[in-house]
Amino acid sequence: MKIFYSKTKEEAGKKAAGSFAAVLKSKPDAVLGLATGSSPEPMYLSLAEMYNAGEVSFAKARSVNLDEYVGLSADHDQSYAYFMRKHLFDKVDIDLANTNLPNGLATDYAAECARYDALFDSFGGTDLQILGIGLNGHIGFNEPADEFTKGTNAVKLTESTVKANSRFFASESDVPTMAFSMGIGQIMRAKKIILLANGKAKADILETALFGKVTPSVPASILQFAADVEVYADEDALSVIIEKHGKDAVIY
Ligand code: F6R
Repeated sequence: MKIFYSKTKEEAGKKAAGSFAAVLKSKPDAVLGLATGSSPEPMYLSLAEMYNAGEVSFAKARSVNLDEYVGLSADHDQSYAYFMRKHLFDKVDIDLANTNLPNGLATDYAAECARYDALFDSFGGTDLQILGIGLNGHIGFNEPADEFTKGTNAVKLTESTVKANSRFFASESDVPTMAFSMGIGQIMRAKKIILLANGKAKADILETALFGKVTPSVPASILQFAADVEVYADEDALSVIIEKHGKDAVIY
């Protein structure tokens, strides 16, 4: 695992975009596992800038997003489908027909999970998986549990996650309480993983996940077993790692 230090989230996003673009350059039809939320926003911005400068193309890429809220249509401005169009898909040359997210309006949860699993398998897994980390250590919406999830699942979001996500909604009661999420088993099939984290609030959980016990009660801890993980984080998110493990724990 390589942990890259950046002073700011913008710098972290730029570095991560460089690594992301390198994957697309070496494999233009790469399968991209994408994430939403605040963490990848600066990286998507840098990727859009690189696309405008002719430095990267998504023309042949295929994407599978990690998750989607249950109950929100793709047109809802807080759906992850909407987020992806706003922050990446509408800004680059990706073919929308090659982009995939769970269908938030699906009412037969088991059928939707099976559909997404079959799609994932037809791609043979991802070449690159982008991740953020929840305050409780979740990746995708795989919340702390007794065991690691394997495939796509319909998850009941924890109170902490609903609270954290309420910043995007008019009130906490508007936040969906369920989501479809790729499983940890699927995340771990990625050939390469980029984990993004910014801000003081992520400092403790980032240290616990990357240096603590590997346990489903901290889902992101499984990343310690992944073959190729790059972490791009700002100074604040890395503060506890540097305090406990020294400056050599990170790459400047
Ligand atoms: C989003 C996702 C979540 C977020 C996590 C951190 O697709 O899968 O696991 O990455 O909740 O969210 P932010 O980046 O908003 O702090």
